[in-house]
Amino acid sequence: MKTLRVALLPQQMTWPSTGAAVVIDVLRATTVITQAIRSGAAEVVVCGEIDEAFAIAEHRDPRPLLCGERACKPIAGFDLGNSPSEYTPERVAGKRLVMTTTNGTRAAIAAAGFDPILAASFNNLSAVVDSLAGQCEVSILCAGTDGVETEEDILLAGAIIDRLLDHPNWRSESGPVAAGRETIGPLGPSEIAARTLWRQHLDTGRTLADRLAETLGGRNLIAAGYTADITTCAQIDVTDAVPTVTRRRPITFESSRGRPGLQVPAE
Ligand code: MLT
Repeated sequence: MKTLRVALLPQQMTWPSTGAAVVIDVLRATTVITQAIRSGAAEVVVCGEIDEAFAIAEHRDPRPLLCGERACKPIAGFDLGNSPSEYTPERVAGKRLVMTTTNGTRAAIAAAGFDPILAASFNNLSAVVDSLAGQCEVSILCAGTDGVETEEDILLAGAIIDRLLDHPNWRSESGPVAAGRETIGPLGPSEIAARTLWRQHLDTGRTLADRLAETLGGRNLIAAGYTADITTCAQIDVTDAVPTVTRRRPITFESSRGRPGLQVPAE
């Protein structure tokens, strides 16, 4: 039986770390990781604390780029902040990055026991869903903000659930649905709530950027002067890049291309 679960916050993940995990911090950590990999970064190492990021960078030659934010702002002594627009091929292609953010990188660390672990954003939505469709167990892990559930992450969780349930590979491998013997496990309240939130958004006909601007993460970014980032983070399917964890100590994302078991079309 296939299982599909969502934790609306990392601490809500009360089940074993088996199968695939997708980490979501739409505004902005997992969108930034997606953009970095899309732009050709060699790897993105994530860590929880600023001191840890400095320590990791210090022991590597050449020194990696230090990236991330606190209170949405760039960190003193770091090379890049947390705006996706900073992660251009000119800045990051071929480079190793070490990133720490307030919530997103911590959510990725919380997913350490799963295999594979992917980073999802609206920018790579279809590619992530294609990658997950062949998996038997999928856990979606929303970062939230400082322990509070955030609609921007739940919207993406809902979009992933909605598309995955309709994906031909997910359905065909989950048994003879047409014969009435459904072998996809039942959705729980969190999965249904996320899917409903996404469908309600679609029914409004409003732009995703407008919707994201109303969320907790969106309001925080607007207050900090990063309104333009919301538009970037709201772009759906602009890349096939799927950041995938290849090492766990510390958690390191690389491009999934060429990784067995994941079906990601070349960009
Ligand atoms: C986070 O990890 O909390 C976010 O990436 C915050 C931000 O985008 O500034």
